[in-house]
Amino acid sequence: MALLSPAALATLMRGGGRRGGVCVRRSRHPPGVLHSPSLSSSAPPQPVIAAKQPFPVELKAGKKYGWCACGHSRSQPFCDGTHKKAAPGISPLRFTPEEDKTALLCGCKRTRSPPYCDGTHKEEAVQSAQLPPQP
Ligand code: FES
Repeated sequence: MALLSPAALATLMRGGGRRGGVCVRRSRHPPGVLHSPSLSSSAPPQPVIAAKQPFPVELKAGKKYGWCACGHSRSQPFCDGTHKKAAPGISPLRFTPEEDKTALLCGCKRTRSPPYCDGTHKEEAVQSAQLPPQP
């Protein structure tokens, strides 16, 4: 079963282009099957919440990092390449710190200042969300 992001769920609840969240247009799936925007080829993929809190990490000046933006990586908060299959269309954010520092990297993937935590994880939409199953 595919998990939906809060944004995708909200779209479903509004029934965007559908009657009651059920697809009524001609499509590849049978009538009455719930249409998930996150699985649609036209809808942009949405990140999943990897954690409901940030990851404290030691960053090294001049080192190149890839912050996981899709939420599927098993090497959180960093990219492990899983996005290529799990969320094609979402790419990691590559960054290089200018100084050694301890930083809080976003785990909820909803920050407005990626890759750093901006406190968005404290919002109800994140705290009440269901986390994807762990492998
Ligand atoms: S962990 Fe995402 S904003 Fe804090």
